Amino acid sequence: MLHMILLECALELIPSEISAMKQVQKHAGRRGKKPSELLLDQSHHGREMTRLENGLQRGRPDIVFHSLMALLETPLCKSGNLTIHLHLQDGRIIEVNPEVRLPRNYDRFVGLIEQLLVKGQVPVEGTPLLHVIKKTLPKLISEFKKDISEAQSILAIENGSKTSIDSLQSIFPLDTPIPVIVGVGAFPHGDFPNELKELFGTHIELDKEVMMAWHVCAEILWIYSARTGVIKNRYSTT
Ligand SMILES: C[S@@+](CC[C@H](N)C(=O)[O-])C[C@H]1O[C@@H](n2cnc3c(N)ncnc32)[C@H](O)[C@@H]1O
Repeated sequence: MLHMILLECALELIPSEISAMKQVQKHAGRRGKKPSELLLDQSHHGREMTRLENGLQRGRPDIVFHSLMALLETPLCKSGNLTIHLHLQDGRIIEVNPEVRLPRNYDRFVGLIEQLLVKGQVPVEGTPLLHVIKKTLPKLISEFKKDISEAQSILAIENGSKTSIDSLQSIFPLDTPIPVIVGVGAFPHGDFPNELKELFGTHIELDKEVMMAWHVCAEILWIYSARTGVIKNRYSTT
């Protein structure tokens, strides 16, 4: 099982520090919502965000959007061997139902996430496709490991151990029952806090240059799928 966690996601509603600012009010007026119901987005609120603490690390919902597009509806996801969680910068965790078909259109995705962050789950009634769960990141990771000694927790990070595609293959187990937990940052700039880094046993670097989070997600997902024979097995069952 591959457990993907998008870490420190740059995904939040507009904070009160900038909600009264003219541009923010104007944008909210155009969207027909209150500022506190809108996603913070550097492309709309970039100037106002310079007032925010850690402003450079925040307001990039597109990173989560593209990363989810890279992970969902893949053969691994359809085979039931993938879980996806979003870890927000305030520590909350969102569970993504692997059966969710997200809107392909970015504006519609933004509307969905706004509803999620206001209400705590979408859809509001019935089986949630995305919902905030009452777990911390350390608890989530330790539950995934299930006391299985071979379980792996891997952080994708610049300055980790240099890992080619071939060596990434050999890191992964051959069998899907062994849990593999992989963390990928979903923020534009900066580094992970030290206490977060310590939650992962192995740190890997996949290229000598910084990569887009969604390319990292895709590389991990497809190498894992090949290593565990997921696609081959799907053919053999048809
Ligand atoms: C855009 S990076 C985030 C921050 C980055 N320090 C920056 O300044 O742009 C998004 C995430 O992708 C992963 N990542 C980026 N480059 C990587 C690399 N060369 N090897 C492994 N993971 C990488 C890390 O998990 C990182 O947090």
